[in-house]
Amino acid sequence: MLEARDVRKSFNGFAAIGGVSLTVPERGITALIGPNGAGKSTLFNLLTGHLRADAGTVSLQGRDITAAAPHAICRMGVGRSFQHTNIFRKLTVFENVQAALIAHRGQARNFWGRAETLYRDEAWQLLGSLGLADQADAIGDSLSHGNQKQLELGIALASDPKLLLLDEPTAGMSAAETREAIRLAPGIAEAHFDLGVIAFQSGRLDEAATAFAEAWRLAPGDSATGNNLAGTYLKLGRIDDARATVAAMRELGLAIDPPLLRALGE
Ligand SMILES: Nc1ncnc2c1ncn2[C@@H]1O[C@H](COP(=O)(O)OP(=O)(O)O)[C@@H](O)[C@H]1O
Ligand SMILES: [Mg+2]
Repeated sequence: MLEARDVRKSFNGFAAIGGVSLTVPERGITALIGPNGAGKSTLFNLLTGHLRADAGTVSLQGRDITAAAPHAICRMGVGRSFQHTNIFRKLTVFENVQAALIAHRGQARNFWGRAETLYRDEAWQLLGSLGLADQADAIGDSLSHGNQKQLELGIALASDPKLLLLDEPTAGMSAAETREAIRLAPGIAEAHFDLGVIAFQSGRLDEAATAFAEAWRLAPGDSATGNNLAGTYLKLGRIDDARATVAAMRELGLAIDPPLLRALGE
């Protein structure tokens, strides 16, 4: 079980995370939903040691990991993907997964053998569970965006995590690819890890994401942050994002600037 208690993080006085508490249950998939800028990626960075919290605590299976380094948290079985796709673009799909397996498990087992034969069975098995077996020989760069995201998931799974944090794995996917990825998720979780936390941007994915057992909503943590964020969206003409931010603030009982509400016609 992963637990964050009253975690806070500011960047130069800007409260990106203004006191977030969440509990990820023992098994299953938890969705973290919030509009762009709500602090989903920042929270992931706090949970995986890539950022240090200003206040609050994070614990993993009862152990305090608030101040632990990323590699230590990784060794405790926490894997993650980043929001921006991170694959070897010149290697084939098969080689990408194989390289990740070698990076995690080492190649001492097969010191005299040729690299191509390492972890062959494991790589095929992983590709099968991701629906990528028929793309094994395709070069990373040539894959559709959806398949690149699935491959990224395979790379994360190669480190054999107990808990996997996926930061917007469906970003940029078509609606059909998104539905397929969400459909595959529980089966992959069942086969490979105990816990998963998946961050989604609010919007058309909400319905699908909340189908998972637990869904946590993340909103800008204080009124000033939320009002700024919604105001910025308005200026950019991103009305849906502004509305989503205001809705999230309302859910948290935060004060919303009257001019903002007027501009949104509420
Ligand atoms: N390293 C940073 N320095 C300054 N501001 C940051 C940094 N990282 C994130 N932020 C700000 O914190 C807020 C939350 O960002 P982020 O966690 O990326 O949100 P999300 O992933 O939900 O879209 C945003 O306003 C963003 O601009
Ligand atoms: Mg993000």
